[in-house]
Amino acid sequence: MLGNIEFYNPTKLYFGKNALDGLKKELVKYGQNVLLIYGGGSIKKTGLYDAVIKILKECGKSVYEDGGVPSNPTTEKVYEGLERARACNAQFILAVGGGSVCDYAKVIASSFYCKEDHWQKFYLNNEQPSGIVLPIGCVLTMVGTGSEMNGTAVITNHAQKLKMGHAFGEVCLPKFSILNPEFTYTVPREQMVSGIFDIMSHILEQYLSGDDDNTSDYIAEGLMRSLVASSLVAIENPTDYEARSNIMWTATWALNGLIGKGKGGDWQVHMLGQAVAAHTDSPHGLTLSAVSIPYYKYIMPYGIKRFARFATAVWGVDKQGKTTEQIAEQGLCEMEKWMRKLGLAMDLTTLGVSEDMVEPIKNSCNLKPGAYFKLEYADIVKVLKASL
Ligand code: NZQ
Ligand code: ZN
Repeated sequence: MLGNIEFYNPTKLYFGKNALDGLKKELVKYGQNVLLIYGGGSIKKTGLYDAVIKILKECGKSVYEDGGVPSNPTTEKVYEGLERARACNAQFILAVGGGSVCDYAKVIASSFYCKEDHWQKFYLNNEQPSGIVLPIGCVLTMVGTGSEMNGTAVITNHAQKLKMGHAFGEVCLPKFSILNPEFTYTVPREQMVSGIFDIMSHILEQYLSGDDDNTSDYIAEGLMRSLVASSLVAIENPTDYEARSNIMWTATWALNGLIGKGKGGDWQVHMLGQAVAAHTDSPHGLTLSAVSIPYYKYIMPYGIKRFARFATAVWGVDKQGKTTEQIAEQGLCEMEKWMRKLGLAMDLTTLGVSEDMVEPIKNSCNLKPGAYFKLEYADIVKVLKASL
């Protein structure tokens, strides 16, 4: 049942093979000094860097660069980037890369006019920016996080062994995002499947809550069916445009606010995954896949009706002659089969986690209210041990 809803998402999307044409149209609207932010160099290898620089020059912009943003961006890199952004008096930020680059750009944009420390203010205190936030635009090269159409940014603090997200909301939404599925063809296979599972996890974190009849859930089921179908094509043929474009579009709608409307949400898989990443720095989607099946088995008895619906609506499980528990279990079994086909990390050992790391990982885990079952620290230890 839907309650009182506010929905506002003005990020303009340019999607498809000609999406980069939109960049010129957008850049003219923003300031002269553009800070171009990118990652570890993939955009230079693919030629996208040259294409973007050409457009920036054609628009007559003064271009400043901040490259080398690491996957799972860090507080240290934010300090460095802020100095650079201020030194060039950036007026617009163009992020070219995956979720890490987009997230990092949001933190630079929000901290630019802020006197306080970004980690303390946004992440530990959960406060909002006190000054103007610089406008940002994204050219996406890796699919999964949904950062291209949301106001969230995730940062890792290695010294404190914490990886945390902050929902900046409206002020930090990209003004526009350029989504050309062909730009994702060169993403390494491990990252491609990591992104695919991240999308599934975002949908499940919202879908696995509540037992009411809510339009958001029907949209979520459609997105999940599309994702499963397209992912199976993409792992056979990574340059299948139809599959890669469906995956890209699904990722954007999975975490731009729409399917969370009228939902409580769970987000405990993400809390576990972020804690794991704080100790392993593993690709985000793999930290989620490694804990998901043990976690869902743990909470399934408390949300059995929803898990049974998931089984029939997404995995086509036949209800005939089965108990609700059997239907729900078969659904999870089908999801596990799909995950194995993709070649995802199915346990934490694969990510380098050993038994003696369980306790420190537990300590890095942020507790959430959950949906069907609230994890306490003792439960987290059990789920982590079952994931080894
Ligand atoms: O750094 P480069 O050289 O660009 O290489 C990247 C990186 O190594 C590479 N890559 C990206 N596009 C490529 C490519 N390689 C070849 N060809 C291309 N076209 O892929 C690697 C991973 O990139 P990254 O941006 O780190 O991946 P992803 O998009 O999964 O982003 C992960 C970050 O986003 C956060 C995660 O926690 C993590 O820090 N998340 C952000 C969210 C949000 N803003 O709402 C929500 C998510 O739940 C997530 O937490
Ligand atoms: Zn995620």
